[in-house]
Amino acid sequence: MEQIVILDFGSQYTQVIARRIRECNVYSVILAHDTPAVEIAALAPRGIILSGGPSSVYAKDAPLPDRNIFALGVPVLGICYGVQLFAQFLGGRVEKGLKREYGKGVLTVKDASCMLFRNLPKRLQVWNSHGDKLTKLPRGFKSVAVTENSEYAAIENRARKFFGLQFHPEVVHTPRGREIIANFVHGICGCGKNWTMRNYVERAVEEIRARVGTEEVILGLSGGVDSSVAAALLHKAIGGQLTCIFVNNGLLRGREAEVVREVFGRNFKIKLQYEDAAKLFLKRLKGVTEPERKRKIIGKTFIEVFQNATRRAGQAKFLAQGTLYPDVIESVPIDGNPAALIKSHHNVGGLPKKMKFALVEPLKCLFKDEVRQLGIELGLPKEIVMRQPFPGPGLAVRILGEVTPERCAILRNADAIVVEEMKSNGLYYKIWQSFAVLLPVRSVGVMGDERTYDYTIAIRAVESQDGMTADWVKLPYALLEKLASRIINEVKGVNRCVFDITSKPPGTIEWE
Ligand code: XMP
Repeated sequence: MEQIVILDFGSQYTQVIARRIRECNVYSVILAHDTPAVEIAALAPRGIILSGGPSSVYAKDAPLPDRNIFALGVPVLGICYGVQLFAQFLGGRVEKGLKREYGKGVLTVKDASCMLFRNLPKRLQVWNSHGDKLTKLPRGFKSVAVTENSEYAAIENRARKFFGLQFHPEVVHTPRGREIIANFVHGICGCGKNWTMRNYVERAVEEIRARVGTEEVILGLSGGVDSSVAAALLHKAIGGQLTCIFVNNGLLRGREAEVVREVFGRNFKIKLQYEDAAKLFLKRLKGVTEPERKRKIIGKTFIEVFQNATRRAGQAKFLAQGTLYPDVIESVPIDGNPAALIKSHHNVGGLPKKMKFALVEPLKCLFKDEVRQLGIELGLPKEIVMRQPFPGPGLAVRILGEVTPERCAILRNADAIVVEEMKSNGLYYKIWQSFAVLLPVRSVGVMGDERTYDYTIAIRAVESQDGMTADWVKLPYALLEKLASRIINEVKGVNRCVFDITSKPPGTIEWE
């Protein structure tokens, strides 16, 4: 398959580069910066991109590529640190800039015949973020575009097909950057548009069949996007050899279990083993108020229930998981430091090693947005494919204090109203998450002639790219008013509503 290799020098934007390329319908892979040239050559890439990175090329411990990559005869595009790197490798000079160039800049294209800027205007808005500066070009290179601060904002060696950009074409603050990247992958590297989810389905189906043969496969279906798409894909590939196990932990949203049974059981006719363990989970959570203990109990109980369920499901050799590409890349160390393990506490579904399954991970090379496209391609409903993330421990992290069946019911009803109103106001699919939180604080109110003493519901709505940082969403007053009035009127046990205006950091998205 035609592909572009991206060598990762630690930029926070490396994954964005990979996604931009895939948006051009070209496959891209991210490899560690020091991947040997022979390994790269074995992939027969159509082009290589050197990412940006936080280091200085002249620093003692600067991450460097295998220099033989420049002799592979493959087009190379260096971005930011990447261009400084190859300039230095090929005989140019990089120095500390007098002024750090950060933020918006205007690029002036001097040589419009440079393929990178084909069909683009002479002046472009670009995004910069670098301290070091290219001060002498390597032999055979010339400058094709400048910014106020840099004579060498874009450089090329047309004969060798080496290109360099001092700015970041991959970020949204470079509005025409996608076209620059498209010009590189199509115009310079000669890639077609072969990476589509339709093609992917065919290939993945063949691969799954080849790997699994006539064996049985088990999949833990949570109802979330990833496991749902994995289930639909596997079902297409191996039909009745797949058994999905769905655990009802009693902490699900309203209709969750029904939707899963309806979509997968009745529509897709997937073998669905429904494990109703609600009572067990709630029994173990009785009296527990400490957030970390709740998570531990839920995680442990899940493993236990799932393990027992797999035994009942029969003799499966394979366990399928909806692992995504970012999970795979994150484990690649950069700068010798292991990548941050921020998400570890979220992996409630992590199963013990002693469960001796071989793994099938059919989404392992996909980004989230591609998984969603794949889900649509496979005929899953929008309600599943576009749904907001929902934490593994479910409502338990949204009920402060003790989790009781009564509190679960209250929160479920309030949450259903939030989801319904967000959908009918056209906001549900536009933002990262919107939900209700139950505060076990009672306050005084009046309803009709009666005095009430009931719980509080907090409404949370956040905007985010990946859950790592988030902004609260400025919901319209009219919507907030409607939410509060519906929740207080329709949900018994609630007499007060508040709106959470905390961003992350310093807050977290969930309350526990
Ligand atoms: P926080 O609350 O850490 O959440 O800001 C970031 C994102 O992760 C989700 N989340 C979880 N997902 N298991 C999960 O599968 C968990 O224990 C968990 N805790 C938080 C949260 O919904 C948000 O999208």
